[in-house]
Amino acid sequence: SATILAACMFGSASAAGLTVGFSQIGSESGWRAAETTVTKEQAKKRGIDLKFADAQQKQENQIKALRSFIAQGVDAILIAPVVETGWDDVLKEAKEAKIPVILLDRTIKAPDDLYLTAVTSDLVHEGKVAGDFLVKTVGDKKCNVVELQGTTGSSPAIARKKGFEEALAGHDNLKIVRSQTGDFTRTKGKEVMESFLKAENGGKDICALYAHNDDMAVGAIQAIKEAGLKPGKDILVVSIDAVPDIFKAMSEGESNATVELTPNMAGPAFDALEAYLKDKKAPAKWIQTESKLYTPADDPMKVYEEKKGQGY
Ligand code: AHR
Repeated sequence: SATILAACMFGSASAAGLTVGFSQIGSESGWRAAETTVTKEQAKKRGIDLKFADAQQKQENQIKALRSFIAQGVDAILIAPVVETGWDDVLKEAKEAKIPVILLDRTIKAPDDLYLTAVTSDLVHEGKVAGDFLVKTVGDKKCNVVELQGTTGSSPAIARKKGFEEALAGHDNLKIVRSQTGDFTRTKGKEVMESFLKAENGGKDICALYAHNDDMAVGAIQAIKEAGLKPGKDILVVSIDAVPDIFKAMSEGESNATVELTPNMAGPAFDALEAYLKDKKAPAKWIQTESKLYTPADDPMKVYEEKKGQGY
């Protein structure tokens, strides 16, 4: 587009003046809402005009948003893809229009020449970190695990399940006895946990919960309490994201571990875009963010306070 051309001609490294479309999944979790806040802040700081579209969890809305961004002739597109498959056609359209697309926080199954780069964590590794923690904590004890999966067909749900199962492989004392989607939401997490508790002797036959995100864990913690059991003690709780509320739960002894996912995916994405516009040198196809494990030993209330200033 004209702006990109101008930026290239003048060798500017700045994204100021660019128009960028952002197709966000929705606001299913505290983490997702923080990612939206941080993306808007990052755009503002850099003088980028951000066109924001909330897809309300629907891939068809994301595809529509992308087509509308292409029709508007935006300079670049950010997309957090709700599911892994079904993106080829619309990404080809963006490529034909010479609009670079950057994936945020989720991966897709598509030829990698259809996007500029993906800013994500190692989603399999996150599941492995959670699983390794549980294996270590449980030791030789027999442990029935229940799993709350993320949105069906989404890369984090697929990869976090895989990584967790890899960690448990060879540890026959740990067994996943129930696994169902809770759609990454608190409400669904609570609802599905209630059904797990009912099916497993009121929860007495459950030793641990693995939730693909903290929001579902927070919902499940509530369900465990309502069933008269102690989350974090009677049922161990391990999840992913590191949202402020899980640190509150941790400080109360109700959560045992979380794996951090930064909500700042836009910072590295805009950096890569600026560098690309300056040199026309394509960034690496994967810009990896960190996955740090937090446990109650990490001063959860201090982390809670720090997190509050980071988009939450
Ligand atoms: O893609 C990242 C995941 O999506 C987060 O872990 C979850 O909270 C969100 O909904």
